[in-house]
Amino acid sequence: MKILLLITATLASGIAYAEGELPDRQTELPAVEKPQDNKYLVPRDLVDIPDGEFGDKVKLGYSLFVDSQQMRGTFVGNEQNCVNCHMQAGMKPNAAPLWGAYMAYPAYRSKNDKVNSYAERIQGCFTYSMNGLPPAEGSKEMVALTAYSYWLAMGGILDKNGMQDTPVPEISDADLQVGGKAESFPLPEELLSKYPIDDRSKLAGRGYPKIDNPEQEPSIARGEKVFQTSCQTCHGQNGEGIKGSDGRSYFPPLWGENAYNWGAGMHRVNTAAYFIYENMPLGKSQQLSIQEAWDVAAFVNSHERPQDPRYKGDVAGNAKRYHNHQGYYGKEVDGHVLGTKAYPSGKEVIHEH
Ligand code: HEC
Ligand code: HEC
Repeated sequence: MKILLLITATLASGIAYAEGELPDRQTELPAVEKPQDNKYLVPRDLVDIPDGEFGDKVKLGYSLFVDSQQMRGTFVGNEQNCVNCHMQAGMKPNAAPLWGAYMAYPAYRSKNDKVNSYAERIQGCFTYSMNGLPPAEGSKEMVALTAYSYWLAMGGILDKNGMQDTPVPEISDADLQVGGKAESFPLPEELLSKYPIDDRSKLAGRGYPKIDNPEQEPSIARGEKVFQTSCQTCHGQNGEGIKGSDGRSYFPPLWGENAYNWGAGMHRVNTAAYFIYENMPLGKSQQLSIQEAWDVAAFVNSHERPQDPRYKGDVAGNAKRYHNHQGYYGKEVDGHVLGTKAYPSGKEVIHEH
């Protein structure tokens, strides 16, 4: 039996985890092949969200997802909105859509021999991508975000199978937070054989599609040129993004204190290259060559950003423990070791709930 001698940190929101057991849920997703026929799941229109208690949860989830700055200072510590990386309100295939994600949890993680619920995976994005402190399971925010994801997935599945008139069944808050890869997912009887549990994590369009490796090693210098030509007008000369007169970032920061932190999946050069190749520059996706996507991903991710929240005072040790992947944390670029001048991470930015 494993004895936990770790100090348990209890946040005011009621979520508790052992020190050192911060969610490490930015593990890379398996690459899903792009279907040739573009037959992705299409969620129902937002106007079809029903009235009533269940529909209100779904609507709140949508609202928190596209305008996450409502949670700034409570759960969110930077200028990101979930929709910045999960585009079109989490509906866009190949931009890690929520419907694809929902059907893949609970998921087994061999790394710590643990099963992650869908809610726990979302907590990972709060901790790293949003540089924040995650809402607890059962909180109104977590129930709302999972209800929205469930509604997108279930509505899409029903419609795809000619069941447009069947309402999305209402399920308990507990079941909402587990995910669609569970026995409790109320799939109509006749669809059970079409969506066996083990295939649910492989819906076409899930995640960010893998691209080929570059012919040449990614180059920060070449990437800077790509950035200046194709990205800077929206993301700013210093990657700081662009704010409207209302103080909101309409174009998200890509590095600096208001960007995703050093633990986020997007800080990996390969994950960013996949995202960028498929989705950027906005409105003109797939305009870059594969080499340019890798180069600009290297450039973006070789800048300081908020600290990896698992950091305990030793960048080299943290890099060794958590950064065995394609990224610049702990590496020297132009005489500077990245991570040594990082901005405060979520737990420092957000003092109390
Ligand atoms: C026309 C404006 C525009 C251009 C040009 C553009 N982006 Fe974006 N980018 C956006 C917007 C807007 C978002 C957020 C998407 C959303 O919320 O729907 C975004 C999101 C991102 C993200 C998601 C991560 C985050 O921190 O939110 C990355 C990475 C990114 N862009 C990189 C790039 C790169 C690299 C280029 C150049 C190849 C580029 N973008 C060009 C507008 C643009
Ligand atoms: C800076 C970009 C970024 C932001 C902002 C972001 N995420 Fe993510 N999210 C990712 C990346 C990257 C992954 C993992 C993809 C990979 O590793 O291939 C991911 C994965 C996920 C997954 C699991 C996807 C799957 O198919 O298994 C969910 C669910 C999720 N995010 C929800 C959210 C929610 C909710 C928010 C806002 C609270 C959010 N994300 C904000 C980048 C982001």
